[in-house]
Amino acid sequence: MKRVGLLGCGSIGTQIALAIDSGKINASLTHVYDESKDASITLVEKLTTKPTIVENPHLLSSNPLDIIVEAASQDAVKDVGLSVLQNKKDLMIMSVGALLDESVYDILSDACKDFKKTIYLPSGAIAGLDGIKSVKSELESLAITTTKHPRSLKGAKFFETSEIDLDSISSKTMIFEGTAQEAVSLFPANINVAALLSLTGLGSNKTKVKIVADPNTDKNTHHIEASGSFGKMTFTIENFPDPNNPKTSMLAILSAIETLRKYCSDEIQIGT
Ligand SMILES: NC(=O)c1ccc[n+]([C@@H]2O[C@H](COP(=O)([O-])OP(=O)(O)OC[C@H]3O[C@@H](n4cnc5c(N)ncnc54)[C@H](O)[C@@H]3O)[C@@H](O)[C@H]2O)c1
Repeated sequence: MKRVGLLGCGSIGTQIALAIDSGKINASLTHVYDESKDASITLVEKLTTKPTIVENPHLLSSNPLDIIVEAASQDAVKDVGLSVLQNKKDLMIMSVGALLDESVYDILSDACKDFKKTIYLPSGAIAGLDGIKSVKSELESLAITTTKHPRSLKGAKFFETSEIDLDSISSKTMIFEGTAQEAVSLFPANINVAALLSLTGLGSNKTKVKIVADPNTDKNTHHIEASGSFGKMTFTIENFPDPNNPKTSMLAILSAIETLRKYCSDEIQIGT
């Protein structure tokens, strides 16, 4: 049975831990860490089989684990990612936006080769990455339009310099159009989806991003269009938010659980 360590005990981390505890994932959760001790304690209290709470993130990878699951923050990936691989553990990353920093990407990518370990990036809140991966060399254009309720966009850095007033939007309005690299700094909350798409396909400077505010929606919708010499693909994903954390889509959590379940099982693997 695979041994798992968890870095980050919030919405996603908790659901992953519960999936292991209930037997949905055939693994043993042995160690957890969160910079908030309260978050670690709250999580452990919910579990029948109690993992050890470690005092710092590096103590996760010094234990005999197979994989460490990051569900914390971009900073956590930057601080701990390399040492996880150096300690010969696989790594699953949810805070994918960290990898749009080219130096972080290169360091972790080289470490995978040097230490013969793998980084897993679940598809998160989108779908269709299997197809885009297959046609990568034939891809000519790649675009994503994300539509959210204005309240889900509040607080983004974009509004520090824009004259758009989210409270006055009364119908569907496009508020941003640019590259994934630009979107990353202006809309950090959308960063994971744009980052995943660009890492899969054309890179962050050639992946186009539109962000639309719609006061009449209760979903986070992502519409992806990919085209090239292979033909064309379009995907529309209409996500309901997780009831415990409206910033995170239910699909992102389910996709993380499925990626870890697959890692921990010996079975026929479906999909590219
Ligand atoms: N890939 C995707 O599609 C996708 C989707 C949703 C969320 N995410 C990302 O996954 C991560 C977790 O999401 P969540 O909804 O569980 O968030 P959350 O806020 O519910 O939980 C995050 C937890 O991590 C802890 N944490 C933060 N920084 C830390 C650090 N440096 N070291 C240790 N612990 C730290 C926090 O204390 C918190 O308990 C976030 O970075 C989020 O952006 C990715």
